[in-house]
Amino acid sequence: RIPLLIDTDPGVDDALALLMALADARHQVVGLTIAAGNVGLEHTVANALRICQVAGRDDVPVFPGCDRPLLHPSPDAANVHGVDGLGDAGLPPATRAAEARHAAEAIIELSHRHAGRLLLVALGPLTNIALALRLDPTLPSRIARLVVMGGAVTGHGNITPSAEFNVFFDPEAAHIVFGAFDRFDLADWEATVAHGFLHEDVDRWLAAPGPVAAFYEAVSRHARRWSEDARGDRWFCADALAMAMALRPGAVLEAAERPVDVVLGRSAARGATLVDWQRQLGRPDRARILLRYDQAALEAQVREALA
Ligand code: BDR
Ligand code: CA
Repeated sequence: RIPLLIDTDPGVDDALALLMALADARHQVVGLTIAAGNVGLEHTVANALRICQVAGRDDVPVFPGCDRPLLHPSPDAANVHGVDGLGDAGLPPATRAAEARHAAEAIIELSHRHAGRLLLVALGPLTNIALALRLDPTLPSRIARLVVMGGAVTGHGNITPSAEFNVFFDPEAAHIVFGAFDRFDLADWEATVAHGFLHEDVDRWLAAPGPVAAFYEAVSRHARRWSEDARGDRWFCADALAMAMALRPGAVLEAAERPVDVVLGRSAARGATLVDWQRQLGRPDRARILLRYDQAALEAQVREALA
């Protein structure tokens, strides 16, 4: 089985992605490293533990990481995800505690333990991975594949006019990570919008019998209703698409390889992803940008995770 390390800030869509990963027979989740992002670190850690518990996977270690971006504070997304990050559903907390080791150190340690085989999937702000790279710049040499949910590759942002939330929350971290890996897969916000789920389909999937569907119905209710009001008949579940691409790369139907960087500084474009579509800067193509994924495969992966 492929060892899988997930860096995440759960988060309603992170939760679905984690359930997909924990249910996948071809991958072994070897750890969750947690950042602040959608909500504060105390909540994202607690949520990761609750998600493992509902998936029957209390054996997966959860490592708390950075509780803020590298340089500048940034607002959270509690309006979408709920104050507790999982829809304020009033579910009981997990019964076990998180690990003592910091996420950045855990990333380095797990990269040694699974050197050359590790699949690293980033579903939140890239603060923990950037810090790990500062501690050990040789990290990329031991990662078999990095998949990132982040960015808005033609500038249609979801948090500012041009920026996507994960990159906007910690642009300096994204700049460090995008510059450190020779190759990575990018599932951005615009790919998310091209792969939405019809709300009526999601309602049906969530009516499946069993504790996982019931849990996810409860924790996602607030976010799904928010999305229906704000965005219409499709639900955009960014982290689920990124995880699908990570777990089943064969279902990628179209991708583009290009150089990608991040706008830093304090302008209105802070956090925008800069894709050199015309290759004008002579830089290497580092990002493999997801353009089209097999929608039926994606929906099957989600349904399997909820079953
Ligand atoms: C990303 O931002 C977060 O709110 C989601 O969990 C996802 O990772 C989408 O822009
Ligand atoms: Ca996320």
